Amino acid sequence: MIAIGGKNDASFEPSFVDALLDRAILPGYSRVGIALRRRGWSSADPAPDALRGQRAVITGANSGIGLAMADGLAALGASVVLAVRSTRRGEDAAAGLRRRHPGGTVTVVECDVAEPDSVRRCAAALGETPIDVLVHNAGVLPARRQENSTGHELTLATHVLGPLLLTELVRPLLAAAHGARVVLMSSGGMYAQPLLTDDPDYRRGEYRGARAYARTKRMQVALTPLLAAELADERTWVHAVHPGWVDTPGIADALPRFRRVTRPLLRTPAGGADTAIWLAATARPVPSGRFWHDRRVRPLHLRRGTRYTEAEAAALWRDCRVMIGVPEST
Ligand SMILES: NC(=O)c1ccc[n+]([C@@H]2O[C@H](COP(=O)([O-])OP(=O)(O)OC[C@H]3O[C@@H](n4cnc5c(N)ncnc54)[C@H](OP(=O)(O)O)[C@@H]3O)[C@@H](O)[C@H]2O)c1
Repeated sequence: MIAIGGKNDASFEPSFVDALLDRAILPGYSRVGIALRRRGWSSADPAPDALRGQRAVITGANSGIGLAMADGLAALGASVVLAVRSTRRGEDAAAGLRRRHPGGTVTVVECDVAEPDSVRRCAAALGETPIDVLVHNAGVLPARRQENSTGHELTLATHVLGPLLLTELVRPLLAAAHGARVVLMSSGGMYAQPLLTDDPDYRRGEYRGARAYARTKRMQVALTPLLAAELADERTWVHAVHPGWVDTPGIADALPRFRRVTRPLLRTPAGGADTAIWLAATARPVPSGRFWHDRRVRPLHLRRGTRYTEAEAAALWRDCRVMIGVPEST
């Protein structure tokens, strides 16, 4: 695994007990996990004004973890841009954020990350001001197979192609920030799936939304080191994050039974946003291209049968670049 933007610092590895929490899944991903791990964090919190004068763009920021991220980043002084597919829902969220952060700057830009034309309009609307933090948070777990207007399956378009395209389009704005951070909000659900390189659009086999979701979250994590390597010379650092199990409108909508059973244990949206906010704001150099949960680097695999080769990840990277219409860099 590459280590750029910081050393392969052993202090980012989980302790034995922390790793055990992960293996047991429920305690680690629930509010119990963050409560236990938080005890070791107080000195590592970003400074109160860590992001003063910086600009943060968050996709899917009108609800759930994305809204909590916008709130947390604004609290650290960032001017935040809510990149949302419904500007009405975005403006409602922005009004609440402006009330909570009266001196701050909160703007809304339309961005349906699953639609390339919308992503291009969004990138154009972001203008020429540097972007210090870009969070690819928008996520979906559809009940049936759907395609975007260019024929790509919806979870692939939302979790993989849209984020890659948006990152590429705003690349100069990230580079201009001299140390920008890109965060992909992935999921521990990816541990259940291998990297599928020969059917990224899920055309074969019976469609299951949860499987499509986990496959594309796996792709996010597999592509993170490659995106990190691509952007390293521009000092843009890339991180994938598992937020834990979080009580959000998305969970209530997509997994109502799961939510009913686990609700007392689910994290708050702020708890789910914590690691991404920390990665966006910490003054400590952290390694780029890794998968994080609760402020620690996590393994890429927890079960046999999900391992993939570097060549397979590289092939997916090339295919995705073709799908978003970006030529391979030399
Ligand atoms: N909650 C959890 O336990 C959990 C666990 C692991 C990972 N995650 C990940 O965390 C992220 C946030 O999830 P959440 O639980 O906070 O869900 P949420 O409350 O449903 O928020 C998802 C956000 O994504 C937006 N969105 C969906 N498709 C979009 C598109 N094509 N373009 C722009 N925005 C789009 C939604 O906008 P609308 O309001 O317009 O629908 C919404 O604002 C997701 O990537 C999810 O996979 C969540």
